[in-house]
Amino acid sequence: MATRPPFMAVVVQLLAFAAATGAFYLPGAAPHNFVKGEQVPLFVNALTPMLTGTDNAKLKSLINYDYYNPKFQFCEPEGGPKKQPESLGSILFGDRIFDSPYDIKMLEENGTCRTLCVKQGVTGEDAKFINDRIREDYALNWLIDGLPAAEMKLDTRNGDLFFDMGFNLGNDEGKFQEQPALNNHYEIVLRYHSPAPGNYRVVGVLVWPSSIGGPQDGPATCDTENASPLLLTEDQTHTIRYSYRVTWNESDTPWATRWDNYLKIFDPRIHWFSLINSLVIVVFLCIMVSMILLRSVSRDISRYNAIDLSEDVQEDWGWKLVHGEVFRTPRRPMILSVLVGNGAQLCAMVGVTLVFALLGFLSPSNRGSLATVMMICWTFFGGVGGYLSSRVYASLGGTDRRKNAFVTATVLPTVIFAVVFLLNLFLLGAGSSGAVPFGTMLLIILLWYGISAPLSAVGAYYGSRHGAVQHPVRVNQIPRQIPPTPKYLRPAAAALLAGILPFGAAFVELYFVLSSLFASRAYYAFGFLALTAGIVGLTTATVSILFTYFCLCAEEYRWHWRAFLTGGGSAFWLLAYGLFFWASRLSLHSMSSAVLYLGYLFLLVLLDFLVTGTIGFLASYWAVRRLYSAIRID
Ligand SMILES: *[C@@H]1O[C@H](CO)[C@@H](O)[C@H](O)[C@H]1NC(C)=O
Ligand SMILES: *[C@@H]1O[C@H](CO)[C@@H](O)[C@H](O)[C@H]1NC(C)=O
Repeated sequence: MATRPPFMAVVVQLLAFAAATGAFYLPGAAPHNFVKGEQVPLFVNALTPMLTGTDNAKLKSLINYDYYNPKFQFCEPEGGPKKQPESLGSILFGDRIFDSPYDIKMLEENGTCRTLCVKQGVTGEDAKFINDRIREDYALNWLIDGLPAAEMKLDTRNGDLFFDMGFNLGNDEGKFQEQPALNNHYEIVLRYHSPAPGNYRVVGVLVWPSSIGGPQDGPATCDTENASPLLLTEDQTHTIRYSYRVTWNESDTPWATRWDNYLKIFDPRIHWFSLINSLVIVVFLCIMVSMILLRSVSRDISRYNAIDLSEDVQEDWGWKLVHGEVFRTPRRPMILSVLVGNGAQLCAMVGVTLVFALLGFLSPSNRGSLATVMMICWTFFGGVGGYLSSRVYASLGGTDRRKNAFVTATVLPTVIFAVVFLLNLFLLGAGSSGAVPFGTMLLIILLWYGISAPLSAVGAYYGSRHGAVQHPVRVNQIPRQIPPTPKYLRPAAAALLAGILPFGAAFVELYFVLSSLFASRAYYAFGFLALTAGIVGLTTATVSILFTYFCLCAEEYRWHWRAFLTGGGSAFWLLAYGLFFWASRLSLHSMSSAVLYLGYLFLLVLLDFLVTGTIGFLASYWAVRRLYSAIRID
C-alpha cells in the first residue's frame, strides 16, 4: 500500500511530461504531414439532423442515416464503400465512417470543376425520402484528416466567424419554399499550413454546398451563380449529377490550434457569465447552510454534554433523543447498498473521465474518446462498486453477502443494456444507422459481464473482509415511536426541495450538454463542466446533510433512504428540464425520435439519480457518524 502514492505520482508526472513535450500522442492526435500530390482521403460519416443557424431553430429528428443508405443515391467508390476502423465510443455515439470516391490530392487540381458521378434511375420513392430528409434539416458529415467538414457561419452576437460542423443535404428555405432542393455540388475549400517547405498539413475543411439544376447528363459546369435549383419531383425518375471543386488555400493557423474555429460554437461569455452567476449563488448558499449547521450542531452538542454533566433530570430533546435509533437497519438494505455501490462506481467514472478531459487527453480528433474513456473507466471501477456496496450492506446490518455481491455486479448493466436494446429495435425499425452493431453489443457484454462483474465480485470480497463500519452509538432493542413529521420532510417533498439547489448550479451547463448530446454539436468546455460537477457534488452533499439533520431533529430517525432520495432529488429536475428542452428546442416529427429521446433521457436521469443519491447518502452517513460520536451517551 505504501508504495502506491509515489508510483501514481510518477505515472501522472510522466503523462504530464509526455503531453507537454508533445512526445506522446493518442491515436489520431499526431499531425499528418502531406507532400504535394499525396492523396488526401475524404471519409463520409452518417447523416445527422442539424440545428440550422438561427437561434430559435429546432431539431426535427434524432435518427442518423448511413451515408451509403441506398435511398440517398450518393456516389460510391469503386468496389463498394469500405468501413473505417472506429473506437468503441465513436460507434456508440453514432459514427459510421466509410471511404468515398472523392479524389483529392494535396495542392493539385486547384479550382478545377470535376464531376463525381452521374446517378441514373433515382426513383420517385428515393426522391421522397431525400426530400423528407431535407425538410428535417439533415446534414452531411465528412472527415478529412480527422477534421469535420464545416460550413463557415457568422455569429450574429459578436460578429465572429466560426465553423459549424456538417453542411446541408439540401435547402428548403427562401426561394424554393414549396419544394426542397438537393445540393449536388460541393465547393470544398481546404486550408493548409506548411510548417516546413514541402510539408503540408490540413488545418481547415470548409464546404459550400449548392444545388445545380438543369440537364444533369452533360459535363459539370460548377456554375453556382446562374443555376436553377435541382428539385426532385416525387412522381418521376431522376438523374443526378454530383460535382465538386477543391480549392487549396494557405492559412497561418498552425496544426495545434486547428480545432479552435470549430469549438467556438458557443460564445464562451455565455458560459462565463451564467456559470459565475450560479456559482456565486450556490457557493454562498453552501457556505450559509454549512455555517448554520455547524453553529447549531455545536450548540446542541455543548448543551447535550452540559446537561449530562450536571445530571439534570431534564429530558433529552432534538436529535439526541434518537441516538438509539439512528443506526437501526433501514428497510431494504439490499437495494440501498446496491444503489450506493453502483452510484459510487459511476462517481469514480465521472471523476476520472473529467480529470482525463481536463488534462487534455480527449482530443476532438480522436472521435468518441470521451465515451470510450467512460466505458473503460466504468468497467474497471467495478471493484469500487462491489467494495462499497458490500461494506455499506454490512454496515446497514445486511447478512446475505453473496446475493448483495451478485446483484451489485449485474443489475445496473442489465437495466442499461435492456434499455439500449429496446432503443436499438426502434432504430432498426426506422432504418437508421444509429443502432449499435451486433459486434459492439458483444464487446459491451464482454466488458460488463466479463471484466466489470468479476472485478465487482473481487471488490465485494475485500469489502466483506473489511466488514461493517463501527457505529458510535448502540441501537435500542425496541424502536421508538415517531411523531408526525412536518410536510416538507416527507420523502417526496424533501427530495424535490433539496434537488433545486444542485440543479440550479448545473442547469446552464446542462443546456450545452443536452445540445451536444442530441444536436451533435461539439462540446469541449471541460473546464466549465468539471467546475460544475464539483459544485453539484458539493451542493448535493451539503443539502442532504442539512435535510438529514432536520429529520433527526424532528425525531424521524429513518434517514438512510431519505438521504439517498434528497441527494438524488436533482434527477427529478433533470427530467423536468429534459422535457422542457424537448418542448423548446426539439420538434420531433417521428414517433421513433420521440421514443429515442425519452429513452436516452431516462438513462441520463437514472445515472444522475444514482450518482447524486450516492453522494447524498455517503455524505449524510459521514455526518451522522460525526454527530453521534461527538455527544456523550450514558
Ligand atoms: C488556388 O486558387 C485560389 C483562387 O482560385 C488561390 O487563392 C489559391 O492561392 C490557390 N492555391 C494554390 C495552392 O495555388
Ligand atoms: C482564400 O484565402 C483568402 C485570404 O486568405 C480569401 O480572401 C479567399 O476568399 C479564400 N478563398 C476561398 C475560396 O475561401
